[in-house]
Amino acid sequence: MEYTTLGDTGMEVSRICLGCMSFGSSDWREWVLDEDESMPIIERAIDLGINFFDTANMYSKGESERILGKALEGRRDEMVVATKGYFQMDENDPNSGGLSRKAIEQELDNSRERLGMDTIDLYQIHRWDPDTPIETTMRALDDAVRREKVRYLGASSMWAHQLAEALYTSERIGLDRFVTMQNHYNLAYREEEREMLPLCEKEGMGVIPWSPLARGFLTRPYEAFEDTTRGKTDDYAHEHPYAEGGGEEINERVQELAAEKGVTMAQIALSWLFHKDAVDAPIVGTTSIEHLEEAVEALDIDLSSGDMAYLEEPYEPVRVSGHQ
Ligand SMILES: NC(=O)c1ccc[n+]([C@@H]2O[C@H](COP(=O)([O-])OP(=O)(O)OC[C@H]3O[C@@H](n4cnc5c(N)ncnc54)[C@H](OP(=O)(O)O)[C@@H]3O)[C@@H](O)[C@H]2O)c1
Repeated sequence: MEYTTLGDTGMEVSRICLGCMSFGSSDWREWVLDEDESMPIIERAIDLGINFFDTANMYSKGESERILGKALEGRRDEMVVATKGYFQMDENDPNSGGLSRKAIEQELDNSRERLGMDTIDLYQIHRWDPDTPIETTMRALDDAVRREKVRYLGASSMWAHQLAEALYTSERIGLDRFVTMQNHYNLAYREEEREMLPLCEKEGMGVIPWSPLARGFLTRPYEAFEDTTRGKTDDYAHEHPYAEGGGEEINERVQELAAEKGVTMAQIALSWLFHKDAVDAPIVGTTSIEHLEEAVEALDIDLSSGDMAYLEEPYEPVRVSGHQ
């Protein structure tokens, strides 16, 4: 396994972060694995040297955090665990979502309990909350660091101007600031290259892209996208504009290069991200040990600057997707 320093944190993480949205309960989403099937994948990830895991309170309504906590029991100190809060957890309780001090304090404690961790390594806001002043949110998050409930703070999909506002707010009043950005970025969705990635680079933030395989779109010929349970039932996979702009041609070029190099499409798509300086560790989602192993093997693939340009060339700007 290769390790990298996550942004300016000084903390070493594997170059692959295991996304835990696929672990939890099939009652939540048809394509999600239940506990008994999730455990061996997390175990294998640890065997392969992965020490970086991403989950969220909303994934399977807390089940993902519970399963991850259980899988890591006895070795939590060696792992870097990231979770997120923002989305409403109880439909009858409006304060179980958003980024008010009340929501953050309560939901963070719920996450710590499910994970079985006194201190979460990286606590991220899943989205921007337009109803809470960012100063209120940053003060509550900074207090969580002071109270040793959280080590580092991270942000997820938002506009670059919102991240800039959050950073200068923290700076202005002397609080801990966001050190990572978890954003929507892959070969078929590159809108983040305009503003967000240059800002993160300038600010020394760690970048950990979500859906690095475009929810499966980059792992098989686009005509076969609906051939898997997830491809059929994951609504978001179809809402994102992966097939728009030059998406279909990008997909074909990934197929072509994979055949040429004797690797899989998923490996080419991941390798493209490993070759991007701005990226620390893509957050890979999988429900299969074989696919997890493929992701790790992709670290050894060499893409020339010509390969990179060939893969990138068909991209055309698409509508922003992943946040509003
Ligand atoms: N912050 C946010 O708003 C946000 C949003 C979405 C996701 N996330 C995070 O990002 C993680 C990953 O997201 P994701 O699951 O949407 O993205 P992804 O990694 O882009 O895609 C996962 C899909 O790719 C398939 N796949 C993976 N490796 C493959 C391989 N070698 N060959 C063929 N197919 C392969 C998986 O199928 P198999 O299951 O069959 O392997 C699955 O259908 C999540 O677990 C979560 O932690 C965050």
